[in-house]
Amino acid sequence: MSVVALVLAAGRGERFGGDVPKGFTPLAGRSLLAHSVLALAASPEVQHILPVVPAEGDARAAACLAELEGVEKLLPPVGGGAERQDSMRAGLAAVPDGTTLVAVHDAARPLVRPSLVSDVVRAAREHGAALLAVPVPDTLKRAQGGVVIETPDRSEYFRAQTPQVFRIDLLREALAKAETSGAVVTDDASLIEALGAPVHLVPGDPENLKITVASDLVAAEALLARRRPEWEA
Ligand code: CTP
Ligand code: MG
Repeated sequence: MSVVALVLAAGRGERFGGDVPKGFTPLAGRSLLAHSVLALAASPEVQHILPVVPAEGDARAAACLAELEGVEKLLPPVGGGAERQDSMRAGLAAVPDGTTLVAVHDAARPLVRPSLVSDVVRAAREHGAALLAVPVPDTLKRAQGGVVIETPDRSEYFRAQTPQVFRIDLLREALAKAETSGAVVTDDASLIEALGAPVHLVPGDPENLKITVASDLVAAEALLARRRPEWEA
């Protein structure tokens, strides 16, 4: 059973702004991509890590990957595509023979804990497809044109995180189906759902936040600063 983690870092980071691709943005001394790679590498359940970086390639990508030189699980990066799904497909095409499970992780989630990576890989090994998710703390309203239609039962709703982990045959089948139907999604699990296959939820971590806008980086810095003494102890 060989597990490969694809780390998707080929987005433009439009909502974030900034002058470098979001994955290369520094957070407490290393890039978001490097944080993500190191967290995945620290899980004994992951054998290989394959970064998917902007296809145009640039010095920043090289510098960021040089930073990770000692990480034995790291495979050479591949270039991504226009949509997240295209980047995932590019990564999937480059996984080594013998891969049985693929963990898809956003480079934009640098705070994922290795223990949760292991949890979700184990769940996918058992069930075929699994993702990290957290309950929704707020009351939810469904509305149209600014008017509430419904207040759904919050206990049935979860925020999807990454990694999302799939048996490679399921993921290939799901991508082929999406290609035929023209579906474009920002969540890999939804491709598996479209096959009718069960996708299992694994308790995630509210701190596994996604860096989307600039203020998310401030929150991530504060969370990391609080964790650091724990690492040094
Ligand atoms: N991603 C990717 N290839 C794409 C689009 C996204 O590899 N064509 C990656 C991003 O690099 C990110 C993750 O998917 O790590 C989640 O996407 P998102 O947070 O939306 O990042 P961006 O697409 O870069 O940001 P934006 O949508 O604001 O442009
Ligand atoms: Mg995006």
